[in-house]
Amino acid sequence: MKLSVIGTGYVGLVSGTCFAEMGNHVICVDNNQQKLNALKNGQVTIYEPGLEILFHRNIEKQRLTFTDDLKFAIQNSDIIFLCLPTPQDEDGSADLKYVFGVAKNIGKILKENNDKDYKIIVNKSTVPVGTSKAVTNILSEFGIKNFDVVSNPEFLREGFAVEDFMKPDRIVIGSNSKKAFEIMRELYEPFVRQGNPILEMNPESSEVTKYAANSYLAMRITFMNELANFCEKVSANVDLVRKGMGADSRIGKRFLFPGIGYGGSCFPKDVNALIKTSEEFNSPIKLLKVVDEVNRQQKLVLVKKLLQHFNNDIKNKKIAIWGLAFKPNTDDMREAPSIYIIKELNKLGAKVSTYDPAAMENAKFYVDEIPEYCNEQYEPLNNADALLILTEWNEFRNPDFDKMKSLLKNPLIFDGRNIFDIEKMEELGFIYYSIGRKVVGL
Ligand code: UDX
Repeated sequence: MKLSVIGTGYVGLVSGTCFAEMGNHVICVDNNQQKLNALKNGQVTIYEPGLEILFHRNIEKQRLTFTDDLKFAIQNSDIIFLCLPTPQDEDGSADLKYVFGVAKNIGKILKENNDKDYKIIVNKSTVPVGTSKAVTNILSEFGIKNFDVVSNPEFLREGFAVEDFMKPDRIVIGSNSKKAFEIMRELYEPFVRQGNPILEMNPESSEVTKYAANSYLAMRITFMNELANFCEKVSANVDLVRKGMGADSRIGKRFLFPGIGYGGSCFPKDVNALIKTSEEFNSPIKLLKVVDEVNRQQKLVLVKKLLQHFNNDIKNKKIAIWGLAFKPNTDDMREAPSIYIIKELNKLGAKVSTYDPAAMENAKFYVDEIPEYCNEQYEPLNNADALLILTEWNEFRNPDFDKMKSLLKNPLIFDGRNIFDIEKMEELGFIYYSIGRKVVGL
């Protein structure tokens, strides 16, 4: 099939590359010249395991091309995917200026073309309910008739994006057109060979599905975070409680890990957008307000513990940090708890020294008060008063504990991701704080 993908950000680049891998011809469009040049020169602009090999293979086979020429892309494709940013507005709602802007340009181009070829315009960006209708209206205003708009939300996780795209749990397609359903089904069938469903629904249901899935997961994490805080007060171990709960097949084991709050480009933004839309339609989902509020507090839970340990005074204390990215296997810093933690530590007069295997360059854009960025895992520990673990990178899971002890001023660890066994840490002689489990070594 002939496809174009408008927007070569995270979703666009992964989708375009994976569609090409299935044998489709994909034209990726972007108006950011710097990014475009990099892509044309064979440089993958995001960090995503497995992407690079597919990217090069499909460029070589000439199934994947990059351009800033929207007209060329529209004229040479049957399905047009909108993979545009929908940033959070000041009031929490999703800002649709990019989606609507491109929809207008597509309208103009199709009009110039005398509306002669049938096109499907697919919203892959996370957009609030009603956007399919709004995009349809924009095209209709240009007198275009020979088209359908489809909502096809993307559920990929950073770090597993290629895997998720190639083997999705489900494909959701929202449309009112039989013809569009048929074509979309044909496009996606190779991706669900193992039997996962292609779910067809009206556009509104599809649009809500994306927000519902992300908000539900955010709520699940938030429940576990509050439960963990409670467990600490009553001598329960949240790890054991989590296993006890997760063994119930109605609950399931995944996404029950407490920590320092969810971050990333999706959960915080989508929770807020759903709060906003539900209020607009006079049907507020009140639960989500609490989810958002609790999550903001949870991001600072380690700082609270740290202050308590040092009798509310961490001025001039050296605090080492392992992990800055909002989760492992990504260099993404968007809404990472580390940003809020470092800002708070700076405010309290601590000296922060950090290491992250991938996110250090990006971190510099998010934290103005520059902490020390180290190129090696053990360097920040040198003479530090405490170590904070903020991202559960695998390389932190089995460290040289003797070396850590010899470098740290105190053998003191605050682990926001529960990566170590409490019994083991006690045996090794650390004072070890974690989330929802007793403090050992005090
Ligand atoms: C998420 C959704 O999973 C994906 O389907 C959607 O398309 C985009 O948003 P992503 O943002 O890549 O993906 O991250 P994810 O792995 O879902 O983690 C989100 C946040 O939740 C992270 O900050 C992570 O640390 C936190 N988390 C996750 C927990 O705190 N506990 C858990 O058990 C799981």
